[in-house]
Amino acid sequence: MSNSKTEVILALDVENRAEADSILDQVGSQLKWVKIGLQSYLRDGPGIIDRCVQKGMHVFLDLKLHDIPNTMSKAIDSLSVLPIKMLTLHTCAGPEALTLCAATAREKMPETTLLGVTVLTSMNQENLHSVGVSSKVEEQVIRLACLAESSGIGGIVCSPLELPMLRENLATDIQLVTPGIRPTGSARGDQKRIMTPKDAQNAGANYLVIGRPILSAPDPSQALEAIQLELR
Ligand code: C5P
Repeated sequence: MSNSKTEVILALDVENRAEADSILDQVGSQLKWVKIGLQSYLRDGPGIIDRCVQKGMHVFLDLKLHDIPNTMSKAIDSLSVLPIKMLTLHTCAGPEALTLCAATAREKMPETTLLGVTVLTSMNQENLHSVGVSSKVEEQVIRLACLAESSGIGGIVCSPLELPMLRENLATDIQLVTPGIRPTGSARGDQKRIMTPKDAQNAGANYLVIGRPILSAPDPSQALEAIQLELR
């Protein structure tokens, strides 16, 4: 299922605030979305979010919340003062936590989409077994994605290779957000299960999270433009 409106989200994974500012200055005007992860948020605090918003970008805050239901819900309440449009949590927190978080977000941050993380793409079958899950990775991904959907979570973060399987098994056109994107010819780095931007778009992705292929390019602005052209 091709998605003509697939958007690029830049993963702003950089070593310091100066680097973040420099990248934002280079590509900010070409971008609608930026992802702030634990590395940047814990170092730079809400200031980095304000900076992105001042530049006209939407912020995806990737904190991957995972705790008991009450604590997760209160964390969402605390984060509701921030101008963020997407926020991640771990779906393996379970139905009670997901339902409560979805209700809290609807009330406290109605402009924000909660995204559920299923099985981290760094986990393989052996890793899953080592934490006591005997299902196949794919079965576990579908189970957790369906749980998130039925609990009122607005989107799923998934590997690009899981896109067709999830589109087939999910009941709604819930948002699918995928990292593991590598334009032809760019270095894989530690990503193992990858797809090109165009292939992920054709598989039904709503958003592509892309970091190093843009950040490490000799000209980040040109690298981003090439990706956006491919998607048009
Ligand atoms: O540099 P690269 O394009 O590999 O960046 C991908 C981004 O997506 C990183 O911020 C990484 O933390 C994030 N991510 C991922 N796999 C997941 C969830 C998030 O690569 N399953």
